[in-house]
Amino acid sequence: MRVAMIGTGYVGLVSGACFADFGHVVTCVDKDASKIERLHQNIMPIYEPGLDTLVEKNVKEERLFFTTDAKEAIADADAVFIAVGTPSRRGDGHADLSYVYAAAEEIAELIDGFTMIVTKSTVPVGTGDEVEDIIRKKRPDADFAVVSNPEFLREGAAIKDFKIPDRVVVGTDSERARELMRELYRPLFLNETPILFTARRTSELIKYAANAFLAVKITFINEMADLCEAVGANVQEVSRGIGLDGRIGNKFLNAGPGYGGSCFPKDTLALTKTANDNNTPVRIVDTVVEVNAARKKAMAGKVIQAMGGDVSGKTIGVLGLAFKQNTDDMRDAPSLDIIPALIEAGATIKAFDPEAMEEAAKLMDGLNYVENAYEAVDGADAMVILTEWDQFRALDLERIKASLSSDIVVDLRNIYSPEDMAKRGFEYSSIGRP
Ligand code: UDX
Repeated sequence: MRVAMIGTGYVGLVSGACFADFGHVVTCVDKDASKIERLHQNIMPIYEPGLDTLVEKNVKEERLFFTTDAKEAIADADAVFIAVGTPSRRGDGHADLSYVYAAAEEIAELIDGFTMIVTKSTVPVGTGDEVEDIIRKKRPDADFAVVSNPEFLREGAAIKDFKIPDRVVVGTDSERARELMRELYRPLFLNETPILFTARRTSELIKYAANAFLAVKITFINEMADLCEAVGANVQEVSRGIGLDGRIGNKFLNAGPGYGGSCFPKDTLALTKTANDNNTPVRIVDTVVEVNAARKKAMAGKVIQAMGGDVSGKTIGVLGLAFKQNTDDMRDAPSLDIIPALIEAGATIKAFDPEAMEEAAKLMDGLNYVENAYEAVDGADAMVILTEWDQFRALDLERIKASLSSDIVVDLRNIYSPEDMAKRGFEYSSIGRP
């Protein structure tokens, strides 16, 4: 099939490259000419493991193209995907749909023959109806269907999540669109991926419900971690103990500094807005939003406490800045709360992150960005781990001990074990463990 993908961000570029790798012919469109120019040089706009290789291969095999000209892309497309950003709107937390509406207006101009328009971006319930109205108003004559097809891609694992998804969700009441979507995802039949066909609004809500539930799970185990610290229990064992129950499942039960990223914070907020607008408040999710925000702020206090209650004039070596490992994304990263609070309390920060320092430098100043973990720790009064990068999991702890000017280690990702760190003579604190 011929696919037009509007938007070449985390969702559009990964989805476009994967559809091309399935054998479809995909043209990715972006208004940002410099982004398209860099893509023509195989320079990726985002860090996503394996994406550059996937793009390069499919461009070479002439299944993947990039352009700023939507007309060229949409003209003979069987499916036009809207994969533009839907950030939280300043002030009220609603999803900003201006890019989605602009794409709908543009598509309306260009439809020729039956066209299936697919919203891949995360959009509030009812957006598909609005897209349909925009197009219908502009082109009463046009033959088209608007379909919801939300993505469930985790940053850092997006290609795998696209190619081996737990399920594909398709929201439409058009039989013709259902047939086309089956054709589009046919390569996934090979591993019997369930394709769930629902009404469009149901599909839109599934996306928010999934992310909100995962955020609830994480926040639940984070609160269990605080309780564990108070009663001397071990949250990793609690997590394992409940996760072995098939009804609970063992994923997304790792306690940490609080969730961040481009989705959970945005989607939980948007869901609570939609719920409040419909007089059916989702109080659990409201609480999760509040608890998570407070948790990220409280983490600086945990570091200060571990360092004796006062960090003024002290130096802290921080390992990790991104909101999680395997990404350069800093959106709503806990480091954005923790580091400014430590600087405010008088600490000097030396920070290292394998991928996110460029992004971080756009958002945070007043700290020193260094070349590697050992440089961050050298001469510091404490080492603090904020992101669970693999390369922080097997540090030369003898070398760390020798170069720290104290023995304090605060591990907000539970990478190391309290027993082992105590044996090595560290004053080690972590999340939810004695
Ligand atoms: C998430 C959803 O997983 C994905 O399906 C959706 O399409 C986009 O949002 P992402 O935000 O990339 O993906 O990252 P994810 O791996 O889900 O982690 C989200 C946040 O939760 C991160 O801050 C991570 O550190 C945190 N987390 C995750 C935990 O604190 N504990 C866990 O056990 C898992």
